[in-house]
Amino acid sequence: MQIEFKVNGKEHTMNVQPTMRLVDLLREELGLTGTKEGCGEGECGSCTVLMNGKAVNSCLVLVPQIRGQEILTIEALEQDGQLDKLQESFINNSAVQCGYCTPGMLMSAKALLMTNPHPTEEDIKTAIAGNLCRCTGYNKIVQAIKEAAAQI
Ligand code: FES
Ligand code: FES
Repeated sequence: MQIEFKVNGKEHTMNVQPTMRLVDLLREELGLTGTKEGCGEGECGSCTVLMNGKAVNSCLVLVPQIRGQEILTIEALEQDGQLDKLQESFINNSAVQCGYCTPGMLMSAKALLMTNPHPTEEDIKTAIAGNLCRCTGYNKIVQAIKEAAAQI
């Protein structure tokens, strides 16, 4: 089947298998390997991307669902060599260890700050509730998101 969609501001028209998952389209067809696959079952959040500004698990989205939609991936956060405030804040707060969960965590945080630039700690915890991190504990991650929000 042929579908049209946008990824990181760029229009695409592609012939794809209707059973292909969005995470595979991004990583294997478009070479956007910043999006990670962990569980492949909608449990870990590593594969989180934004679909029309809403955080979704790309392992659970089938390609036909993105017809006409706008997808944003971790690759779009940095612009012209300038990291997003969230990325800087994660670095400054040492909110990254192995980094496997980090792209998904950043995209969930991005979705939050796009709709709620001044979130409470509870809002932050709710926004990243679907993103599992086995390394850092969550305090540094929550702190990093708080600090990024304070700079908006
Ligand atoms: S890989 Fe998609 S939620 Fe875990
Ligand atoms: S930094 Fe390793 S799982 Fe989150």
